[in-house]
Amino acid sequence: MNMTEMIIKKRNGGELNKDEIHWFIKNYVDGVIPDYQVSALLMAIYFKGLNNKETYTLTREMENSGDHADLSSIKGIKVDKHSTGGVGDKTTLIVGPIVAALGAPVAKMSGRALGFTGGTIDKMEAMDGFKTSLGPDEFVEQVNEIGIAVIGQSGELTPADKKLYALRDVTGTVDNFSLIASSIMSKKLAAGSDAIVLDVTCGNGAFMSNEEDAEILAQMMVNIGKRAGREMMALITDMNEPLGHAVGNSLEIEEVIETLKGNGPEDLIEVCLNLAGAMLYLGAKADTLEEGKKLAKETLDSGKALAKFKELVEKQGGNPKIIDDYSLLPKAKFTKDLTANRRGYIESFDTSGVGFASQFSGAGRETKEDDIDMGAGIYLYAKLGDYVEEGEKIATVHSSEEGKLNSALEKLAQSIKIGEKPEMPKLIKKIIE
Ligand code: URA
Repeated sequence: MNMTEMIIKKRNGGELNKDEIHWFIKNYVDGVIPDYQVSALLMAIYFKGLNNKETYTLTREMENSGDHADLSSIKGIKVDKHSTGGVGDKTTLIVGPIVAALGAPVAKMSGRALGFTGGTIDKMEAMDGFKTSLGPDEFVEQVNEIGIAVIGQSGELTPADKKLYALRDVTGTVDNFSLIASSIMSKKLAAGSDAIVLDVTCGNGAFMSNEEDAEILAQMMVNIGKRAGREMMALITDMNEPLGHAVGNSLEIEEVIETLKGNGPEDLIEVCLNLAGAMLYLGAKADTLEEGKKLAKETLDSGKALAKFKELVEKQGGNPKIIDDYSLLPKAKFTKDLTANRRGYIESFDTSGVGFASQFSGAGRETKEDDIDMGAGIYLYAKLGDYVEEGEKIATVHSSEEGKLNSALEKLAQSIKIGEKPEMPKLIKKIIE
């Protein structure tokens, strides 16, 4: 097999066969094929696309490039969820405890933040002592004992995706349907759950800016999962404003706990109940999606989900006292408010801009090596469609470095438009079964 021939074949619109894809993935992971040739192949794929057969084959080859999580000794239908990324998305830490409290086992591997999107693992590390890495036996034992474990992706899972994603990130080849679908689904399949609910975000704070594209991506991932024998469902959710009020690790943990106490923002609750409902339905804990949502709401309202969250924090080494005492969470030393420069409605957000403002405050990373300021981020008092008076406080920037406040505040100010009353976007746009 020859890499140059494969690049030319794809460049000319040809179809890559199973042997070629297998050979390419194996030799790339083994360090035999250099990045410059893979970059060229990725660009050819970006322009010529992969058909469904090629996309499925690529996904399975990437899945099989490393280890698989062995969840076979966990009793019951293991349910997982995945979001394609957003700003202020802290749903895993609410949905996981709800679903686990209702008896559906959650053995979850989550990712870290990069760019304007946040990562669940970083948020969990805002809780002092919380271990985001557990050995395979410990991971399985914990799920059998308390019904939930949430850890970072282990080093041995999908090495092909790790290398390819890093290369796509610097070669302008991230936003291709087949490459995104195979990247996400290879990880989900290797992570071993039986049922997977996908939250495909759509809007100006998501990879997919419009609903049609989000639907294409969602359908592609659902098809891959089903063909691989998993129960699948995808929700297309709006990301034209940050989810909830808090963006940034410690601030988001506080919002997670408030939501579990019954004081959460409406948009966050709605997305969480829908995701939890879908997981309960696929996990055979509810006969319909509606019943799943109802059960999820009852569990949230009863405090059982909060109790499960507390168990999770304690079990993974965190301090459960944070639940009643937020002063135990990291706090940024400095804050600066953003006030409305005119009266009117919050007409629109540039949601990725808010994500970048949070990153500038120290809450995110520009490179993988950057440290995160756990207390940093943005708290939005005003949400889409809210009316504000001139001079009213609409957001606060938090940072441990005074020098970062102004650049974050400037980016934030550019990302919020005050003007006419907007038409409110539908939060749950579509459900794909
Ligand atoms: N998330 C992933 O894991 N992979 C992609 O390609 C895009 C988003």
